[in-house]
Amino acid sequence: MNFYVMTLFPEMISQVMGDSIIGRAAETGTISITPVNIRDYTQDKHKHVDDYPYGGGAGMVMQAQPIYDCYRDIVEKTGPAPRVIYMTPQGRVFDQAAAQSLAGEENLIFLCGHYEGVDERILEEIVTDNISIGDYVLTGGELPAMVMIDAIARLVPGVLNNRESAEYDSFQDGLLEYPQYTRPEEFHGRMVPEVLLSGHHQHIDTWRRQQSLLRTKERRPDLLAAAEQSGYLSPADLAYLESLQ
Ligand code: ADE
Repeated sequence: MNFYVMTLFPEMISQVMGDSIIGRAAETGTISITPVNIRDYTQDKHKHVDDYPYGGGAGMVMQAQPIYDCYRDIVEKTGPAPRVIYMTPQGRVFDQAAAQSLAGEENLIFLCGHYEGVDERILEEIVTDNISIGDYVLTGGELPAMVMIDAIARLVPGVLNNRESAEYDSFQDGLLEYPQYTRPEEFHGRMVPEVLLSGHHQHIDTWRRQQSLLRTKERRPDLLAAAEQSGYLSPADLAYLESLQ
């Protein structure tokens, strides 16, 4: 899977995405992440990529021409019409289901906005998905693009190894993940739950499932209600939740 990031700050992308699991996947060729500098495409002799807003007002607006030429150059490599994601607080809010759907694409293009905004006409022309990473305002699209790339890339087959498997993640079945413990058995007087030391796999699985249910009920009751609605909960799950009342 290939990620292209149109940005005025390409080093921001390469520095952050070069390490850890995503960096390893890019090195082995399972994914590629290509930052593309919008400024390289400006036809302005002073290399400007922004200008004053028509109608007045504060700040500068990114111009359509450099973004369009940058986009055309990427599409020459990918072939026709990959999805183009624009990061904006005005978009629909990103979640695990959105990550899953985008992970099925072969190529994705991210357009990172800056300053006060981007000329609306280029957004109308090339953007297929407006996506927000939450109801707060950031200074640019680079961080949200990297948040999304991380969440999408780890779902691409071969990016995680067996031990990092996404199978038991939070949200994978609509619930939060159960708590994890490692050595030592006692830390500051806090003990590892007895059942995890028992070697009894069925008891461990049941305990973990119940911890997932309990956590989701306590921390994200909205998710628990959604999981129940979607039929993710078994009769045993429902009986356990009933027993908590
Ligand atoms: N750009 C600025 N704020 C943003 C947000 N919350 N999500 C996505 N892109 C943004």
